[in-house]
Amino acid sequence: MSCIAMQSFLTLLLLSAVVRGQNPCPPYDEIAPCKCVYISITEVDIDCRFAATIDDVFHAFNNISWNFKNMRRFYLGLSEIEELPEGVFGDISFQEIRITDNGMLRSIHNTALRASRDRLRVLRMEGNHLNSFPFDILPEMTALTELTLYNNYLIFVPVINSDSLELLNLANNEITFLEEGPWSLPNLRELRLGGNLVREGLPLGLVSSMDSLVTFDCSWTQPNLLIPSGLLEFASDALQYVYLEGNDMSNLEPNAISGLTNVTYLSLYGNNIQEVNEDTFKPLLEDVAIQGNGSINLHANPLNCGCDMAWLVMNDTFREMVRGTCRKDGLLVSELDPQVFEELCFKRFLDF
Ligand SMILES: *[C@@H]1O[C@H](CO)[C@@H](O)[C@H](O)[C@H]1NC(C)=O
Ligand SMILES: *[C@@H]1O[C@H](CO)[C@@H](O)[C@H](O)[C@H]1NC(C)=O
Ligand SMILES: *[C@@H]1O[C@H](CO)[C@@H](O)[C@H](O)[C@H]1NC(C)=O
Ligand SMILES: *[C@@H]1O[C@H](CO)[C@@H](O)[C@H](O)[C@H]1NC(C)=O
Repeated sequence: MSCIAMQSFLTLLLLSAVVRGQNPCPPYDEIAPCKCVYISITEVDIDCRFAATIDDVFHAFNNISWNFKNMRRFYLGLSEIEELPEGVFGDISFQEIRITDNGMLRSIHNTALRASRDRLRVLRMEGNHLNSFPFDILPEMTALTELTLYNNYLIFVPVINSDSLELLNLANNEITFLEEGPWSLPNLRELRLGGNLVREGLPLGLVSSMDSLVTFDCSWTQPNLLIPSGLLEFASDALQYVYLEGNDMSNLEPNAISGLTNVTYLSLYGNNIQEVNEDTFKPLLEDVAIQGNGSINLHANPLNCGCDMAWLVMNDTFREMVRGTCRKDGLLVSELDPQVFEELCFKRFLDF
């Protein structure tokens, strides 16, 4: 049965239930402190933000009979729950699960989400205490487009495979490395890894399998991020935003980053770059330059604006594409005078 046919079938089922006088929600008292919020036939949400213990949640889904099992959203927040155990949701499924600010929540059993495996689109778990996540369930979660694990305590990320995932947000954890191997996220559009401890922990080839990537963010890592040659080989024609801000990088190796497009904005804001070496930056600018609207942001770097940059200043196209200021005089790179650079950096040598 197609998705739409399935949906109408379920809607009919539910309609007939409602017509027969059956509310899709169990009686209020039976599932309290969780609440069942009936908005419309396809929008029934379960809100357990008043649940303090796992027993409250487990009981609501396992010891009560539910006429209707395909819910829209589930909410949990500010509880003292430590684990989402096996079977916690019984046979009730969701399209979205939002679990936020549960300061004790450390883990999720790898079968806890099983009933939702064909339906779950959004799994957002922010501000909990997760130090692990069952990433190996992702290939089965065939509808999942967003996985947000922002602001937890994850330390390690294994190889991830998902044909459906579009957004993966692992920012603000304590991730020291991501496993090297056959990552496969062909539909991923947004990868957020900022605010972790990765330093040398990005695996070679991580982004080169991501054909649909639009946004890559690995900013504010501690200690300073190291990007060896060949590490960030982007392979997406849609690439628009690459953020490597605040990583205390003083230089980039040639070919550390490649595959930028004419719509890519590369931000190296807030690093420690003094010299804009031709070997490193010219290939990047050439990728971005061909009739497009891309640019490279070097603001908040202590740029020397010496002869290392003459090649850039003397090319009108390149000069316009670089945002940044010189540390001596605060002049914008785009406003530097190519003639001054030509004379200072080249004429002298021509005299010999
Ligand atoms: C609640 O359901 C679980 C799982 O089905 C069962 O093991 C447990 O005995 C039930 N508890 C009560 C109070 O009915
Ligand atoms: C660049 O162009 C693309 C495609 O036309 C557009 O989606 C994007 O917003 C533009 N970016 C900027 C920074 O203007
Ligand atoms: C980027 O380049 C392609 C050709 O490769 C061109 O069709 C497109 O218009 C360019 N994008 C922008 C924003 O100019
Ligand atoms: C700037 O560099 C580009 C790419 O290397 C080149 O095609 C272009 O001719 C240069 N422009 C000038 C004015 O030198």
